[in-house]
Amino acid sequence: MGDLIVVDNLTRMFGSFTAIKDVSFSFDSGSIFGFIGPNGAGKTTTMRILSTLDIATTGDAFINGYSVIDEPDKVRSMIGFMPDYYGAPKNMTIKDYLDFFARAYLLKGEKRRKSVEYVIDFMDMKKIQDKHVVTLSKGMKQRLCLGRALIHDPKILILDEPAAGLDPRARIELRELLKILAERGKAILISSHILTELSELCDSCAIIEQGKILSHGNVNEIQESLQLNNKSLPVISLSLLEPNEDILIHLNEIPFVEQVEEITKGKKFKLKVNGNKNQIPQILKNLIDSGYLVMEFKLEGQNLEDLFLNITKGEVQ
Ligand SMILES: Nc1ncnc2c1ncn2[C@@H]1O[C@H](COP(=O)(O)OP(=O)(O)OP(=O)(O)O)[C@@H](O)[C@H]1O
Ligand SMILES: [Mg+2]
Repeated sequence: MGDLIVVDNLTRMFGSFTAIKDVSFSFDSGSIFGFIGPNGAGKTTTMRILSTLDIATTGDAFINGYSVIDEPDKVRSMIGFMPDYYGAPKNMTIKDYLDFFARAYLLKGEKRRKSVEYVIDFMDMKKIQDKHVVTLSKGMKQRLCLGRALIHDPKILILDEPAAGLDPRARIELRELLKILAERGKAILISSHILTELSELCDSCAIIEQGKILSHGNVNEIQESLQLNNKSLPVISLSLLEPNEDILIHLNEIPFVEQVEEITKGKKFKLKVNGNKNQIPQILKNLIDSGYLVMEFKLEGQNLEDLFLNITKGEVQ
């Protein structure tokens, strides 16, 4: 495996409690890797180990070939970590704050000044650079925290729930920033339990629950393998513009429709269908040809959210 980040069988015990067990995955530069799991699954624990803030009980992880256990200093210089929580220091402006972290990464003189200026520009914080950190809104704090992770221009970003608490516009802005960073060659690990925000962003992902990886790999491949393993019939959500009294009888007569569930009388239905990729569109064609005004015709279980609900059991540890 020539990947920039290789996580190899990490296990972390807290006393007799196993927070993560044999966690392995890998990803490379230029890609955004989603780390998905419910509360308490072990996302933060894993990310803290990768960022050298905690040590695994067994196993190791390699960042550009360097072990997080044996060579933490080398690893730190290559990683930018955005924690899920951070305290805002008093009496520090945005500029001071970034300068403080630039010093911590041993940047000096002109190089340090340029790094701070670059991050302020990139994060679009020039107008507010003299504001005190404690006075910032949650969204601006998150932005600053991402900026702080970028200050030493790391190859790898480890972002623990960076979108938590952001409004929809701020989420979109964050997504755009992360895409730009990936295009510039950074490897990005991002955790979340809000799947809609990850499904558009990530190329690959790992799904973790109760400390164990349930599934990992390319998002599309995971979806395909799940569909292959899924013995139940695909379900279509159907809704019409206006309620129609006759449609129920009609639906039951359409080929490949096995079972019809009426959600809203005459208007919204769930159809269990017994057909392949080529046959399912014929159901829609049949409805349109028969004059029904279809507003929605959607195969369920296709997005990352459904996938997550399918493979996790919702048990909190
Ligand atoms: N220092 C610690 N001591 C004891 N148990 C811990 C410690 N840190 C984490 N845990 C436990 O390990 C498990 C995993 O926690 P972790 O914070 O990694 O979950 P998470 O996936 O980040 O959850 P969330 O979505 O809520 O942030 C939890 O059961 C947690 O209580
Ligand atoms: Mg967490």
